[in-house]
Amino acid sequence: MRWRVQVRVPASTANLGPGFDTIGMAFQLYTTIRMRVADEPQVILYGEELQGLPTDTSNLVYRMAELIFAKANMEMPALCIEMKSEVPLTRGLGSSAAAIIGGLVAANYLAGDPFTKEEIFFMATELEGHPDNVGASLFGGIVIAVMEKERVPYIKVLPQPDLKALAVIPNFMLSTEKARGVLPEAYSRKDAVHSVSHASLLAAALATGQYEMLADAMKDRLHQPYRMDLVPGMATLLEESHHYGALGTALSGAGPTVISLLKGDEEKLTRFFVDTLLEHGITAQTMSLTPDCVGVQISEEIDNSF
Ligand code: HSE
Repeated sequence: MRWRVQVRVPASTANLGPGFDTIGMAFQLYTTIRMRVADEPQVILYGEELQGLPTDTSNLVYRMAELIFAKANMEMPALCIEMKSEVPLTRGLGSSAAAIIGGLVAANYLAGDPFTKEEIFFMATELEGHPDNVGASLFGGIVIAVMEKERVPYIKVLPQPDLKALAVIPNFMLSTEKARGVLPEAYSRKDAVHSVSHASLLAAALATGQYEMLADAMKDRLHQPYRMDLVPGMATLLEESHHYGALGTALSGAGPTVISLLKGDEEKLTRFFVDTLLEHGITAQTMSLTPDCVGVQISEEIDNSF
């Protein structure tokens, strides 16, 4: 048993278009969690981003710690959990996946590492229902994963050093539940073939660094068309951002954030993103994002960054 730990978990985008529930990419935008053995349970949340979340043992991170100790058949001590986050909540940048990974990894460390990273990946995937955000937060880089019965086989691909992303984050929240609720139960063979072919091309383009393929490879018929009505202006962003320097553009996870992959200057794209959403009556902020290639980082050293 260890007494304290600090973990830093990257945010992520999921899907990248046709890689629905399959492909995730991590960014240098972090959730930091401190966990230590205490006399009684305590959850302390710092910063505006986390306001409104539970500060008792119903907090998601606390529940993840309980899960680790229960699965390891160990008695859990009371924990003090402190958390701060740079990730906007419920916007499609994997904030809950980061909390799940942070809670599981920190508690696993305190418990003396009863589980491997692969086992934690499986647990987190079961909890989220899909591996894309949790995989990227856990391993960093670009993670392509499939769900098997008891495992989540995956391949991690490193982005080229000059690849970056621009996210436009509308000023409204969209729950994953709502955004999944609009998806159909069944698809035509034509749409299935479109999805397989584009997702395959996307994985190959990301693995080989042939980013000039992204504009075609990131086209999607599996989820984006059905989510258009939830994010006014999204159709224009997807169709026209390549005129402003984007290599490829997609709804980030379940939205409402839209994200472009690009290299070089992002000024024109930033203006296009903000102006387009404003034309649809939506204010938004943009975030320039650099890939995280490392994934969750564990440290016994507690820094003074809170
Ligand atoms: N793949 C998921 C979705 C990511 O698009 O619904 C959001 O959790």
